[in-house]
Amino acid sequence: MRIARIDPAHPDPDEIAGAAALLRSGRLVAFPTETVYGLGANALDASAIDRIYAAKGRPAYNPLIVHVADAAAAMLVVREWNDRAERLAAAFWPGPLTLVLPKRAEVPDIATAGLPSVAVRVPSHPVAHALIAAARMPIAAPSANKSTEISPTTAAHVAKSLGDTVDLILDGGPTSVGIESTVIDISGPTATLLRPGTISVPEIEAVIGPVAVARASGALGTGASTAARPSPGMLDKHYAPRARLVLADASEAAARVERERADGRQVGAIMIGAPVEPSPTVVRLPADALGYAQRLYEALHRLDDAGCEVIVVERVPSSPEWVGVADRLRRASTR
Ligand code: TXA
Ligand code: MG
Repeated sequence: MRIARIDPAHPDPDEIAGAAALLRSGRLVAFPTETVYGLGANALDASAIDRIYAAKGRPAYNPLIVHVADAAAAMLVVREWNDRAERLAAAFWPGPLTLVLPKRAEVPDIATAGLPSVAVRVPSHPVAHALIAAARMPIAAPSANKSTEISPTTAAHVAKSLGDTVDLILDGGPTSVGIESTVIDISGPTATLLRPGTISVPEIEAVIGPVAVARASGALGTGASTAARPSPGMLDKHYAPRARLVLADASEAAARVERERADGRQVGAIMIGAPVEPSPTVVRLPADALGYAQRLYEALHRLDDAGCEVIVVERVPSSPEWVGVADRLRRASTR
């Protein structure tokens, strides 16, 4: 495995060309997107996609997201591009929104876990964009971590989790969004949120009208009914640190930390707001949802690496812009 530093503002064309050549020859390349690092492979090559599942230890029933350069390229993997797709793409691409639509036969079944639909997104990160453009093919990319672990927001996180199972890691520095994209299924008559992210349900509803919320996403929509069908893979324990994660109300968090410590455990904490005093195991994250999301996984990785057995996390607000973060915290605390 090689880690190549790459300037996110001006990705070196030679480095990008080399990475694209690896992808074209069926190898795996980890690269930064604006959300988290992705583990990329040629989306039209079943044996390359097979390598993704093997590297991640990912169950075969959990389908991948296909990354493309623009909406025109999305239409090459999607069979029916509808009006909602057109409007959502215009509003949010490039960016952290994934659309689930009927798939074309050219997309191998292994990429979509046998589903008749495909998840597609246009990332806004310049390195991701340059790589996809240079590869001249759609790139299947799940988050670049072992299945059920916390997603990577730095190249070091990728290297720690995947080691030599990945051929090349493009290191474009820490990602800016910090949690995975919002996933919405618009393949049927009802638009359904499958995974909440930083693009919120009200923002999507402003573009296409009412959105239902898949029950397994655990998110509360402002929209119509609560639909039943969850996204495959979303029922699993997911995004979990090694440490046990405990959610606590703001008024109880400090006492909980003291109690765990008194019981002799190595305790870490993630609180909201400005630092009170510097501490390696008490992380303070911004009080705005986007700023918090950007740094959450880095904090979890750091506290895990510091050997914490328990991480006490102050509960976040329940307003729509926090739903993506609240979803990841709830999953991480589920054992
Ligand atoms: O931000 C992101 O989305 C990152 C970056 C790398 O783009 N990728 C990512 O991929 O988070 P992954 O594989 O960790 O998550 C993909 C999610 C899973 O929840 C999966 O179930 C869902 O998308 N998904 C993929 N294809 C689907 C389909 N055809 N129908 C329903 N859900 C699908
Ligand atoms: Mg993932």
